[in-house]
Amino acid sequence: MIPGAGVAMAFGALTPRDIQHYARPGSLQLAALPPLSLYVHLPWCLKKCPYCDFNSHEMGVTDLPEQRYLDALMAYLEAALPLIWGRTVHSIFFGGGTPSLFPPEAIDRLLGGVRARLQLAPDCEITLEANPGTFEKDRFRAFRQAGITRLSVGVQSFNDVFLNRLGRVHDRAQAIAAVEEAAQAFDTFNLDIMYALPGQTLADLQQDMATALALAPPHISIYHLTIEPNTWFAKYPPVTPDDDTAYAMLDLITDMTGQAGLQRYEVSAYARPGQRCHHNLNYWQFGDYLGIGAGSHSKLSFAHRVVRQVRFREPRLYMEQALAGHCLAQEEEVSRADLPFEFMLNALRLKDGFAPERFSERTGLAITAIQAGLAEAERKGLIVRDFNRIRPSVRGFDFLNDLQSLFLPPSH
Ligand SMILES: C[S@@+](CC[C@H](N)C(=O)[O-])C[C@H]1O[C@@H](n2cnc3c(N)ncnc32)[C@H](O)[C@@H]1O
Ligand code: SF4
Repeated sequence: MIPGAGVAMAFGALTPRDIQHYARPGSLQLAALPPLSLYVHLPWCLKKCPYCDFNSHEMGVTDLPEQRYLDALMAYLEAALPLIWGRTVHSIFFGGGTPSLFPPEAIDRLLGGVRARLQLAPDCEITLEANPGTFEKDRFRAFRQAGITRLSVGVQSFNDVFLNRLGRVHDRAQAIAAVEEAAQAFDTFNLDIMYALPGQTLADLQQDMATALALAPPHISIYHLTIEPNTWFAKYPPVTPDDDTAYAMLDLITDMTGQAGLQRYEVSAYARPGQRCHHNLNYWQFGDYLGIGAGSHSKLSFAHRVVRQVRFREPRLYMEQALAGHCLAQEEEVSRADLPFEFMLNALRLKDGFAPERFSERTGLAITAIQAGLAEAERKGLIVRDFNRIRPSVRGFDFLNDLQSLFLPPSH
């Protein structure tokens, strides 16, 4: 969930009048605009997993409205272009859903359309999320040829018992084959793993991690399974490990990844040196992103304001609207009062924290806006700071919600 979305939103069309509005004087003063990323949401999966609350919908491969969706994406991109005029895109992320459900030719056409409209940095990181259930050797290679530089493989577990309990469409053998191919075909890759699974023991997790690390991934994202509202698991809750076991699991993960040369650099992200995910780092460093695709979010900065947008969530409605020429987005301007919390919510997820000047650069506010929160956090031992850096302490990282809440706007 993107912080701040859902607060005081009003529908707004991307009309020329609005574009002028973004450039008008406002209460903020941003000296420079942050790096810009592009997020492309592809909202379909072979089967909906019982724990998942992402904007993903079941769809058979042969039923994918491929060209219609691509046309809708391009219409939305075109409509958003005036908001990012002249800016370079530093990373692209195809997320889902299951982007690897789309044929490589479609990803190739899509990237071609993006390249024709946007200026990409020469070293632009281009990630695609892949489900091992869609794995075929030639298919993965073709994604690489289409320009994908980084594959993010949704493994979750290498144990067939847990894959089954998670309702995954793939088994251990497919997961291993997909990861081995990702290692061969792409510049770099990521594994998504989940822990604290129904019935999982420390020994089970230890085996899962050993299998994952034996595949020498440059990057792993490891998520504590959460029971999200409106999912199958929320309705029929499975028995999951208790909090003490889950903490012990996280310690085991940090130990094992550390020994394998991967450093925990964000709450859920572990990387070898030089292999951090640029796209996600840009979110956590409060950079800008344009989201296209059903339900995607954007955060865009202008000289005097920061704006958030959300697009139609329902894929059918999203396509209908785009093809009828209505490229609408729900939109809000982030208030001065909310900006400090929004910045801190992201920046404190990073083990290295942030440079104090980055706060002013990204929010257009003076560092005094967070002085009281910083003093309180320091008094409670939740941050460490010097002139160059403000970072969560070990304790602050363990009690991140408590730390972040010190920066809530006064009304909360
Ligand atoms: C959009 S999915 C990634 C790609 C693909 N859809 C897949 O599942 O293989 C992003 C990741 O979020 C994680 N995730 C999804 N729901 C979760 C939940 N309820 N708790 C923890 N992690 C979750 C999973 O690790 C998943 O791979
Ligand atoms: S495959 Fe991924 S996006 Fe699709 S339902 Fe499962 S976890 Fe969610």
